Formats: sequence, structure tokens, C-alpha cells
Amino acid sequence: MALRTIRELGDEVLEKECREIKQMTPRLRSLAKDMEDTMYAANGVGLAAPQVGVLRQLIVIDVGDGPIYLVNPVIVEQDGEQFGSEGCLSYPGKAGNVRRPSHVIVKALDLSMNPIEVEGEDLLARCLCHEIDHLHGIMYTTRVEGEIYDAGTLAEEEEEDEEEDEEEGAFGEDDEQNGWRVMSHPDSRKQEGN
Ligand code: NI
Repeated sequence: MALRTIRELGDEVLEKECREIKQMTPRLRSLAKDMEDTMYAANGVGLAAPQVGVLRQLIVIDVGDGPIYLVNPVIVEQDGEQFGSEGCLSYPGKAGNVRRPSHVIVKALDLSMNPIEVEGEDLLARCLCHEIDHLHGIMYTTRVEGEIYDAGTLAEEEEEDEEEDEEEGAFGEDDEQNGWRVMSHPDSRKQEGN
């Protein structure tokens, strides 16, 4: 397991356009696995390559159903709307309300460079939008409506749910009123996000 350093808001790598991947290589496969490890270690539900300093179009997402790797993902359909809390591993401890489609269809390639299509609703739709934004240098903070707030207060309230919710992932709108799932540990400063 190899963990990579997560770049944080203010790092210019997070504001750049990522290049398409034309060919899968052992190096990129290794990157994908490291991204997965890094995401889980940080209690995230998604991670994009630029967040570990690599400007390539690769994301990994796990909203509770196992990891999905997407190479060169593009949103080809979107509809509906959801408005709720979102966080990011590149901006630990913070959250803000972002409007996203409630349903998206994404075309991409898998790690074998075979075409795949992923359909996401609710949390998965939000996560897909958020991670694909990263590939185009867009942080969710630029889409926040209202204040960006400290997620810590909500984290404390929801600590007791953390074990059950561990697989649920971290952000977004779900069945909770406040839409913010927290998986941070009481004894650490880690926040969930993506
Ligand atoms: Ni993010």
C-alpha cells in the first residue's frame, strides 16, 4: 500500500486542466491503486489524480459499493437537482452547500481502457460531478452557495454514527437532513471528503 500526499487548496496543481490518458501503463495502474489506498486512508469517497499531483484524467470513487476507477470520464447526461453539503480531501475540515444534478450518466474507460458507462444518482451523482470537476481544475469551493463552514461541529454530532456509516462515504446529500456524512475519527483531524 502506497499513500500519496494529498494536495490542498491553494496548490496550483488543483487549478489545472488534466490531460487525457491515451494508453494504460504500469505506472498509471500503480497510480490508480495508490489513489485508492490514499482515498481510503483519508476516509474519502473519491479522489482525482490532480489531488495527488498528477495531471491526468483519472478518478477513483467508492460511495460504498466498492471502488470505481474512471479514465477520461465525461458527463454525457444530467438531470434533476440536489443541493447539499460537500467536502473535499483537498480542503480538510471544511464543507459548503453545492448544487448538483441528482442524476448523471458518465462515459469513461476502465483501467483496461475498455469503454464503460456509469449511472449515478444522489451521492454517486454528486461524487462523479465533484471528481470530474477536479480534472478540469475546478474545486467545489468555487461552486459553493453561501458560506464555507467548519465541518467539525457536524463531525462531533455524527461521531456516534461513524462506524455504521463508514461505508457510506462522506459527503453529499443522502437520507440525512443535513446531508453531511462524517467519518472522521474523534482522535484525529481527518475529515471525510473527496
Ligand atoms: Ni475533492
